[in-house]
Amino acid sequence: MAGPQSVTREVSGNKAISNIVIVIAMQTEAQPVVNKFHLIQDPHSPFPQGVPWLRYHGKYKDLNINLIWPGKDPNSGVDSVGTISSALVTYAAIQALKPDLIINAGTAGGFKDRGATVGDVFIISDCAFHDRRIPIPVFDLYGVGSRKAFETPNLVKELNLKVGKLSTGDSLDMTQQDESSITANDATVKDMEGAAVAYVADLLKVPAIFVKAVTDIIDGDKPTAEEFLQNLASVTTALDVAVEQVIHFINGKSVSQL
Ligand code: ADE
Repeated sequence: MAGPQSVTREVSGNKAISNIVIVIAMQTEAQPVVNKFHLIQDPHSPFPQGVPWLRYHGKYKDLNINLIWPGKDPNSGVDSVGTISSALVTYAAIQALKPDLIINAGTAGGFKDRGATVGDVFIISDCAFHDRRIPIPVFDLYGVGSRKAFETPNLVKELNLKVGKLSTGDSLDMTQQDESSITANDATVKDMEGAAVAYVADLLKVPAIFVKAVTDIIDGDKPTAEEFLQNLASVTTALDVAVEQVIHFINGKSVSQL
């Protein structure tokens, strides 16, 4: 039976992609992409006055690239990571910019027992939440919010990237309950935004793909926050290279050719 994604494929599948939105939560992750594609900050933000969300834009060959960074939290001054900000900016960016495709790029924790190594870049096949526990029939499934990413078999083959499932929650660390849910989600990587972006993209019927680079090994012996901060700069270079390759691959293609 045709699911929501096949509908998306049929409706917009054959025209060349011209407008993309890249959602990136952290400045350290976003800046190399801004630099690489010479994106400039939009002085006339399409977003409500006063929000910290920033749009950088530019052209690469036939593509209009919009990079959306949720910016610094006005109260604490740190990057607005997590599901709330990423859902809000994805919604606002789709409304304002009508993209043909969303790319959520960022760093993630990885499980070595499921094949992840620091510096690996994954294309995500499925997203789900691991910290929305509602133990009532059907609400439980709503909480997990499992969604397929837009399938990109040609991209995966061409760029030789690993493919895995992603589990999303609003914490960098992991409780035992989170761990059981992540295992139930069959996830290889864990982040703080992906499933929220997938939720909004699914609601508004925009194909979404996820590029996640591994900064820390969750089932290793190093404290997560320490390992994450230690590897953040070097792994964003790997992420930046992968995003560049993905954009290069996308140029001139329709979503059904991805
Ligand atoms: N981003 C990078 N590492 C992460 C982790 N271990 N959990 C959630 N998000 C992350």
